[in-house]
Amino acid sequence: MRCSTAFTMFVLGTFTAALALVHHSLAVSITDIQGPAWLSPLQGQSVQNLTGVVVAKGKSGFFLRGDPSPDIRVSNGLNVFSSSTSVLSQVNVGDLISLSGKVSEFRSSTAPDNLFTTELQSPTNITVLSTNNTFSPIVIGKDRSPPTQSLSALDVGKDGWLTVPNNQSQVDSANATLQPTKFGMDFWSSLEGQLVTIPNPVALDFENTFGEFWVHGDWTVTGKNGRGGLTLTFGPNGIPDANPEVIIIGAPLDGTKNPKVCVGKTFQDITGVVVYQFGFYYVLPLTAPVVVSTPDPTVPPTTLKSDSNACVLTIGDYNVENLAPTSKTLPTVANHISNFLLTPDIMFLQEIQDNNGETNDGTVSANLTLTTLSNNIANLTSAINYNFASIDPVNNQDGGAPGGNIRQAYLFNPAKVKLAANSTPGDATTATKAIRSHNGGVSLTLNPGRIDPSNIAAWNSSRKPLVAQWETTSGHTFFTINVHGTAKLDSSSTQGTFRPPVNNLVEQRTAQVEAIAKFIKSILILDPLASIILAGDFNEFVQTRSVFKALDGIMLELDEISGIPPVERYTYVFDQTTEQLDHIFVSPVVALRGTQVEHIHVNNWASTISLRTSDHDPSVAKVKVC
Ligand SMILES: *[C@@H]1O[C@H](CO)[C@@H](O)[C@H](O)[C@H]1NC(C)=O
Ligand SMILES: *[C@@H]1O[C@H](CO)[C@@H](O)[C@H](O)[C@H]1NC(C)=O
Ligand SMILES: *[C@@H]1O[C@H](CO)[C@@H](O)[C@H](O)[C@H]1NC(C)=O
Ligand SMILES: *[C@@H]1O[C@H](CO)[C@@H](O)[C@H](O)[C@H]1NC(C)=O
Ligand SMILES: *[C@@H]1O[C@H](CO)[C@@H](O)[C@H](O)[C@H]1NC(C)=O
Ligand SMILES: *[C@@H]1O[C@H](CO)[C@@H](O)[C@H](O)[C@H]1NC(C)=O
Ligand SMILES: *[C@@H]1O[C@H](CO)[C@@H](O)[C@H](O)[C@H]1NC(C)=O
Ligand SMILES: *[C@@H]1O[C@H](CO)[C@@H](O)[C@H](O)[C@H]1NC(C)=O
Repeated sequence: MRCSTAFTMFVLGTFTAALALVHHSLAVSITDIQGPAWLSPLQGQSVQNLTGVVVAKGKSGFFLRGDPSPDIRVSNGLNVFSSSTSVLSQVNVGDLISLSGKVSEFRSSTAPDNLFTTELQSPTNITVLSTNNTFSPIVIGKDRSPPTQSLSALDVGKDGWLTVPNNQSQVDSANATLQPTKFGMDFWSSLEGQLVTIPNPVALDFENTFGEFWVHGDWTVTGKNGRGGLTLTFGPNGIPDANPEVIIIGAPLDGTKNPKVCVGKTFQDITGVVVYQFGFYYVLPLTAPVVVSTPDPTVPPTTLKSDSNACVLTIGDYNVENLAPTSKTLPTVANHISNFLLTPDIMFLQEIQDNNGETNDGTVSANLTLTTLSNNIANLTSAINYNFASIDPVNNQDGGAPGGNIRQAYLFNPAKVKLAANSTPGDATTATKAIRSHNGGVSLTLNPGRIDPSNIAAWNSSRKPLVAQWETTSGHTFFTINVHGTAKLDSSSTQGTFRPPVNNLVEQRTAQVEAIAKFIKSILILDPLASIILAGDFNEFVQTRSVFKALDGIMLELDEISGIPPVERYTYVFDQTTEQLDHIFVSPVVALRGTQVEHIHVNNWASTISLRTSDHDPSVAKVKVC
């Protein structure tokens, strides 16, 4: 018996193996392929007799819809990948087909931060079972609505998707089941391959270089600003809102071209298919979206005007994006400073290039750049003849375009302020220090000067802050610090597998704020009532609280203390989000005297991206320094 049982088992085993060899394919449904998790339960398997209705067709494949699942985590849509015309010519929209193919999880080899996306590859045995079947798109906002706060369950930590350290886990390796009602990436993943309609879409940014653009539709959104964009804000739970309720519109499937867009532009309903590509969830529209309305590009100038009171100052802050003497944008920057910022008493500028711009020949002086700008302003506003203050960097040591030597600089109205008396100007490599002055006040060893320039952890390949001590016409002194933090370039996709997403060089930006805070403390120890204004392009959101922690209890953020509504706090627009990279902070005594601030959207309210002068919007503040 034992022998016989063993024999039977052996025979059955062989028989099963043989069956598997012959019938190596499975008959399955689209919902079996999609499953409730990130990766398909059938990944790598060949399938037969898969049926579905063709709902859309493009140059690199078509999209099938199968019978729905009662489980909303499971998509009944599927992308069949093929760019073969002999395959594509076999199917038409409306056909019910059966086919064979291989279930694959695709990710571009050059983009390790991307998610895998489920596809049917190598389609064969396509049989058209019937034609002219009807189907209707899933209407987002009606049939299904995206969550509005978080992208991923893996973004744990008090700063949500902005929590440091980054990349503590990966969506694909965790392969959890989807939570489409809670997390945005899960929501869009549960619609992978589906035909959807976005009712009344609104653009959230300019189009990117591929003509793609972000929208939200007629559904609940959070962070909506007056222009129509969605601003990065804190959610009701105190965690930074990741704006997951948005989607990027990719290239139309019929080969038409998307229109040029800007923040707040509206369109007729967009119908298309949901795919994941290039790091984000997309809707590929069936055809080019049709524009309904474009917002008025008129930008009102600031209401904050220079004051005759010596103690009341207007402060401008503007990243002028690689400004050289010959920049085509220079006259427009002058026009912005004159006619929109109304010639603030002190301008904090970032990205002033040297006298020959990006010619990489060792030139570091920027006096021609700043003189040209100041002369252009004088031509427009004859009453103002700006002087300037800056420090030339060591050639090619502060990051940015090679040879450009971008640096921060001040323009100042000598009729209102001057550098404090008896100042010795600093250089690129010597740290300025706050010291007790002869009259019992505080002064700087070097004025203007740089903060701790040899601190590699903070300033390697980045701009050192430009500090100055000023004197008003009433003889009072105050300090300013002009900042340009290291950039976020090479961060990972916010909708990628690394969670929280990699916020590149966040550690360096943290070290930069720490070095600045230490310097500010060295002034406040000598004079707790010192008036200090810290402003510039920090290349970071205040919602990344860990970066700004060192300023807690020392400096106050001007938008916050001036009562700017959180959704109107923006100077930049990137991908789906209107956001603030440029900040102004003041010391407690300045805050107590009362402050005002306005962001002037001369660039991000442009009707096309090519009309922008800089990627940043400038800001104007009014503060009392004595
Ligand atoms: C697919 O359908 C064909 C024709 O009906 C059938 O012969 C075959 O066994 C089916 N394949 C599977 C895996 O069920
Ligand atoms: C992902 O999860 C699904 C559903 O739980 C499971 O069937 C599949 O095998 C998992 N894939 C991997 C690679 O873990
Ligand atoms: C194609 O269909 C035939 C008949 O159903 C089947 O025998 C064959 O294995 C299928 N080929 C593939 C690659 O699925
Ligand atoms: C399918 O619809 C098209 C367009 O309306 C029509 O020309 C064609 O005759 C229809 N085919 C069938 C089989 O009904
Ligand atoms: C994120 O972490 C994963 C797993 O440790 C690693 O393979 C990957 O290189 C990391 N990515 C980045 C950009 O640090
Ligand atoms: C810039 O500085 C150099 C060296 O001091 C001087 O020769 C030159 O005239 C200055 N140029 C302008 C435009 O001020
Ligand atoms: C200032 O205006 C005069 C007269 O229009 C013009 O000749 C000169 O080039 C202008 N200078 C600058 C710096 O714009
Ligand atoms: C400084 O930055 C450069 C350029 O990004 C990099 O190659 C180098 O490794 C960095 N050095 C240190 C000490 O961090």
